[in-house]
Amino acid sequence: MPGYELINNSEKKAVNEIFDNKELFYNGKRVKKFEKEFARYIGSKYAVAVSSGTAAIKIALKCLGIKAGDEVITQSFTFIATLEAIVDVGATPIVINVDDSLNMDVKELEKHITKKTKAIIPVHMLGVAAEMSKINKIAKKFKIPVVDDNCEALGAKWGKDKLGIQSDICTWSFDNGKTITTGEGGMITTNNKDLSMLFREYRDHGHQNNPKFPRGRDTHRIYGFNFRTTEINAAIGIEQLKKLNFIVRENKKRYNIYKKELLKIKHLKLRRIPKANIPLCDCIIFSIDDLNKIKKILIELSKKNIITKNVPDAIEWHFAKYWDHIFKEQKISKQQLETKFLKSSYYLERSIAIPIFVKEELKQTTKKARELSQIIKSFV
Ligand SMILES: Cc1ncc(COP(=O)(O)O)c(C=O)c1O
Repeated sequence: MPGYELINNSEKKAVNEIFDNKELFYNGKRVKKFEKEFARYIGSKYAVAVSSGTAAIKIALKCLGIKAGDEVITQSFTFIATLEAIVDVGATPIVINVDDSLNMDVKELEKHITKKTKAIIPVHMLGVAAEMSKINKIAKKFKIPVVDDNCEALGAKWGKDKLGIQSDICTWSFDNGKTITTGEGGMITTNNKDLSMLFREYRDHGHQNNPKFPRGRDTHRIYGFNFRTTEINAAIGIEQLKKLNFIVRENKKRYNIYKKELLKIKHLKLRRIPKANIPLCDCIIFSIDDLNKIKKILIELSKKNIITKNVPDAIEWHFAKYWDHIFKEQKISKQQLETKFLKSSYYLERSIAIPIFVKEELKQTTKKARELSQIIKSFV
């Protein structure tokens, strides 16, 4: 969760400049710079800044022409926003289980593809990549676009590349809990020029920003919405981007401290990470097969004020098993969701995610890792 930890005078100065120069109103100077620098960091041709990660996913689906009657495949472990974006364009979410990587179980993907499938959204949850090579291979075979939800893994890599350029479209979030934060904000990246132009138009009421006309006489070809971001958000984003390499580096140091301690414990498994992936390392996730032991460990962690990250403290907002309200139209009941996601439940209920803080002294991380390890060892 490092972005917010590093907010300091540099962001304050950048925002003050907006007030000093009276550039508060949307004029795009900083937004354009943020987009350009983000695209360069990621290695993508185009980047379009929007108001949130949720908006980014919705815009991507809208601009792919996805509508009522279409199906979009995603995974059971995600933030609820992924599903909200799907249902908000009128499409039907087809949600498949996660495996021991806590991301999309690729073995389930192909059998859920139908004639109605119009997009696949793999989610790179808690800093770890979904199996992108396998997912893209299947998607290519069926000619289905892939829209990554990379809201939680900015800074991770896939081979030598940044994670997020392997698919047709990638969506990002800069809310307060993300690798870098602008308070609220999002981005959509792609190498497809036509799509990037559609994203721009959709985020801005359909405005084509036609250079031949003043804004009041601007041309349009689609209707859109207001999903613009602001100069303030972009100014913060530009400063946060400068801190991203530091965040990635510092995450890794602390992750390795936890990893070294945890690997000494019998019967404990670390979350499986795909071979090609260098994760963001903003948390470390371990699991133990014995559910009773996990429950006891959690009670002890809570007594010692050791917090978890989403698994399990906010699991109700990150696991589709709890979202019968989203599946109302499909008439899928709570009981059916329980059954459908038994496999995901197995992995998620046995996992614990410990957050990593980049400003924490290494000595303090070592102390916490040892304390955590002692607690676990007393139950396994
Ligand atoms: C996996 C995932 N998708 C989408 C979002 C939505 O991003 P935002 O909060 O910027 O709308 C989030 C944010 O929590 C997320 O974690």
